[in-house]
Amino acid sequence: MTTISTYTVPVAEGKYPTVFHREFLVEQRADPTYTVQPQSTTIPPPTQSALLLKGVGEKYTLVTDHAIPTISKKDEILVKIQAVGLNPVDWKGPAYNFGIPALPWINGRDLAGTVIQVNDENSRVHVGDKVLVPSTDYRDIRKAAFQEYAVATHFNAARIPSSSDVHASASLGVAFVASVLALGVSLGLDFRGSRCPGPDLQDVLEGLDVEGIPGDIRGECFASVAEGERLRRGDWVAIWGASTTTGYITLQLAKLAGLHVVCVADIARHGARLHQLGADVLVDRQDTERAVDIIRGVTKGKLRYAVDIVGAETAGLLERTLDDTIREDGSHAHLLGLTGLPKERKPGVVYHTVPIKLFHTSPVVGEKMVSWLERLLETGALQLPEIVRHEGGLSSINESLEVLRQGSVSGKRIVVDLGL
Ligand SMILES: NC(=O)c1ccc[n+]([C@@H]2O[C@H](COP(=O)([O-])OP(=O)(O)OC[C@H]3O[C@@H](n4cnc5c(N)ncnc54)[C@H](OP(=O)(O)O)[C@@H]3O)[C@@H](O)[C@H]2O)c1
Repeated sequence: MTTISTYTVPVAEGKYPTVFHREFLVEQRADPTYTVQPQSTTIPPPTQSALLLKGVGEKYTLVTDHAIPTISKKDEILVKIQAVGLNPVDWKGPAYNFGIPALPWINGRDLAGTVIQVNDENSRVHVGDKVLVPSTDYRDIRKAAFQEYAVATHFNAARIPSSSDVHASASLGVAFVASVLALGVSLGLDFRGSRCPGPDLQDVLEGLDVEGIPGDIRGECFASVAEGERLRRGDWVAIWGASTTTGYITLQLAKLAGLHVVCVADIARHGARLHQLGADVLVDRQDTERAVDIIRGVTKGKLRYAVDIVGAETAGLLERTLDDTIREDGSHAHLLGLTGLPKERKPGVVYHTVPIKLFHTSPVVGEKMVSWLERLLETGALQLPEIVRHEGGLSSINESLEVLRQGSVSGKRIVVDLGL
């Protein structure tokens, strides 16, 4: 027999009930895809360990008496963090002073763990679910990954199927969000026809109130790609920096949607993996002039879409591979830069950035994306990045970020186990 006991306590604002499920059993779920641990969920203690950034250019400082974040909105959940995936921004932000809203601050963008609290009985995730959370909302310190407990929203949390490793699942969140928004919003690719169908985000956006989308991403969301210029099945796209975690995901999503993909990377190191993930053409990154020539040759000088995941310089190289004529139908070439774009602009090229905050500012978009991610993981349609697992918890993150900064872990994501 299945038992469940719940009790309700008021939250600070007294607006919504907080529901803690004290006991729950596997049999409660008809769907065996997600394993619910037969455990009691403990109400968290008032304080936790966290890594604080106290000054620009400084290392993170471990503190053990930081308040556990509290949920305050109906959509929110509390996650006990088990694994943290490290992103380049985790060391670049403090080093170059960006993405730090105030000091001291907590960083960390990718986490996986167990839901221990929900604020809405109709939440799409439940207490006990294992989830991965891409924490793109870095201005909300409660959502940062470098702490033992983090707040998230249920529409930004993807349940991890029991077939997937929790640590490996901490590696791909931000990369997945960036890839989906780059291809699906900025370049307009409709994922409905994919092997493992996903959303048509352009269609989803049409149904949204423009005023509800932050002003600085409205252009990219609503006016970046004309209907007739949308990236479509059968089109070619070039990815510079294909061995990045974001590149691996972008390649896989592009192939699922039926695109032809040229990948630029260190082929000796990463060619086998890129080939296995379906790359149509592999171009070595060492001789950049030759790489430009090869891409132009392979695409017969007609390439119209390119994604750079390295920086402004390589985005400039990719720009040279594009057919930048404005065609009779008024269409352009499209260049998207995740880490920078060339300063000079050509009239025949539309330049794109990725509207990353759409993921957490639009519940509809966020939910479509995490629901698709769940299906991609359940069906095995998306391969998780390879990881290097670092033990040692929060106190070891400074050391792990130094390893990341030096680039010695190449083609893999470092995931730190929090030992909880
Ligand atoms: N705008 C956004 O919202 C957003 C979102 C996600 C990511 N990003 C940015 O995208 C970039 C990639 O992020 P990530 O987390 O996916 O990276 P990552 O997994 O840490 O990338 C590591 C890989 O980058 C490759 N690489 C380094 N320099 C390269 C070059 N000159 N040409 C080609 N490949 C090169 C390395 O290849 P080797 O092994 O050959 O050295 C290594 O395999 C970062 O700059 C990140 O900040 C931006």
